[in-house]
Amino acid sequence: MPAIRCRSVDVVEPASRWQAERLSDSLLNELRVEARERAIAYRRGQWWTQAFRADRADVQAPQYLREGGVYLITGGLGRIGRTLAAIWWRLWGQGWTLASRSGLPPRSEWDRWLAEHDEADAQSDRIRFVRSLEEEGAEVLVVAADVGDREQMRAAVAQTRQRFGAPARRITRGRGCRRRGDGSAA
Ligand SMILES: NC(=O)c1ccc[n+]([C@@H]2O[C@H](COP(=O)([O-])OP(=O)(O)OC[C@H]3O[C@@H](n4cnc5c(N)ncnc54)[C@H](OP(=O)(O)O)[C@@H]3O)[C@@H](O)[C@H]2O)c1
Repeated sequence: MPAIRCRSVDVVEPASRWQAERLSDSLLNELRVEARERAIAYRRGQWWTQAFRADRADVQAPQYLREGGVYLITGGLGRIGRTLAAIWWRLWGQGWTLASRSGLPPRSEWDRWLAEHDEADAQSDRIRFVRSLEEEGAEVLVVAADVGDREQMRAAVAQTRQRFGAPARRITRGRGCRRRGDGSAA
């Protein structure tokens, strides 16, 4: 319902009439102002709001991830695959093979593709994603391979080795579950 806006104001129960009047004034004031904050707290005459800041978690790499490693993610152009690649790349890994059945158009056609398709186009979104990872320094190989097709997956693994000079250490399925592999087969 676009006409309704909700905000949460956390208060301490007033202990005196004077405090109740002051709280009442503050709450009325809260209704008048166009504040962006959705969660507010009043404490000891101070106005607090909730904020988030990005931080780097002090986490250890899971066993299957290794700094500078090479990874092949099937479903790698989907939402989960892209999210994993984007997060893991910043923490671990250098070479990423993103496999999906349809892959992407050849790189030489990317500029034209972007120019000819609107912002909402799914392939454009994937192209922009690959470019953004590469601009950050990741090495990305996009391959068309169906995870259910042994030969296509063998080819994807071989392309990965050829491109990065190392086998994919782990094969991960961007389908909400993870599977360990030895880089030799899917
Ligand atoms: N997103 C979520 O929050 C969420 C939560 C829980 C579970 N899941 C499940 O996790 C899976 C992935 O989710 P998603 O959101 O990443 O989906 P998505 O955005 O639709 O991406 C799926 C990716 O997998 C590829 N793909 C599909 N079949 C494939 C195959 N046989 N071989 C190789 N690649 C294949 C697709 O590309 P092509 O079509 O080109 O092959 C696409 O890149 C889905 O099964 C979904 O139901 C998702």
